[in-house]
Amino acid sequence: MRGLAGKTVAIAGGGRGIGAATARRLAAEGAAVVVGDIKAEWAVETAAAIRANGGKAIGLGVDGTSPESVTAFVAATLAEFGRLDGFHVNLAGGTVGDIDALNCPLDVFDRGIAINLKSHLICTQAALPVMLERGGGAMIYTSSGAASGASAWQVAYPMAKNGIHALVRHVAQRWGKQGIRANGVAPGLVLTEAVREHMTDEQVSGAEKRIPSTRLGHPDDIAGVVALLASDDGIWINGQVIHVNGGAQMRD
Ligand SMILES: NC(=O)c1ccc[n+]([C@@H]2O[C@H](COP(=O)([O-])OP(=O)(O)OC[C@H]3O[C@@H](n4cnc5c(N)ncnc54)[C@H](O)[C@@H]3O)[C@@H](O)[C@H]2O)c1
Repeated sequence: MRGLAGKTVAIAGGGRGIGAATARRLAAEGAAVVVGDIKAEWAVETAAAIRANGGKAIGLGVDGTSPESVTAFVAATLAEFGRLDGFHVNLAGGTVGDIDALNCPLDVFDRGIAINLKSHLICTQAALPVMLERGGGAMIYTSSGAASGASAWQVAYPMAKNGIHALVRHVAQRWGKQGIRANGVAPGLVLTEAVREHMTDEQVSGAEKRIPSTRLGHPDDIAGVVALLASDDGIWINGQVIHVNGGAQMRD
């Protein structure tokens, strides 16, 4: 992809799964990658594997729900690579106990919103000023098919993911003229290590049958789209949420 070589992209929630695949893909495209994760050891391992393959990466602990932690993460990025061209907000969690609207405890709701939505604003507040100072950059947020599908069994996660869509459009509209592109990727069912562990073989084959494509998602399927959004091939994509789901939901 054009324009990734020489750029620096930071990922919050890059220690495993989609974030780690994205880190590997960006590094393979020639970008320097700063892998951040609340599990610092996962971030460090992911970055070490990238370096072992000849890529440029460092791994750091970061808590995407803490403004101080994300500010320090951005500062460490600048200290190591001297620039920040892209920031992928990928972290998620806090869905245990997130059930239907009449039964979801408010503390579970608050935690889900903090991890899955407020973190995206916190990362924006830390990364955007640095990008604006340099004349632009790409914010890439992570939504989900859960934002546009109808879930009867869970309330906070889909609400949080919908909120991300509003943030994408807000940032694109507010700072587009200053060179900022803000987009989101909305994965369908992606068989990461963690997702695969929680699904039976029957659930996997049932999900496979329900989608038009030949298989469920791989983390690399999402990584390619994030790389596109960070690259100069994505230079005119702004304010969009791109659904990557093997056709599980068909949307304009
Ligand atoms: N895998 C799927 O099927 C799927 C589907 C739709 C959307 N998504 C979205 O894609 C993104 C990545 O999903 P995944 O399946 O790779 O998840 P994952 O759980 O494998 O990876 C998420 C990473 O975020 C880290 N993290 C959690 N809380 C954090 C915090 N406070 N600060 C920093 N890091 C933190 C975790 O340690 C983990 O490494 C998430 O936003 C998720 O909602 C995934």
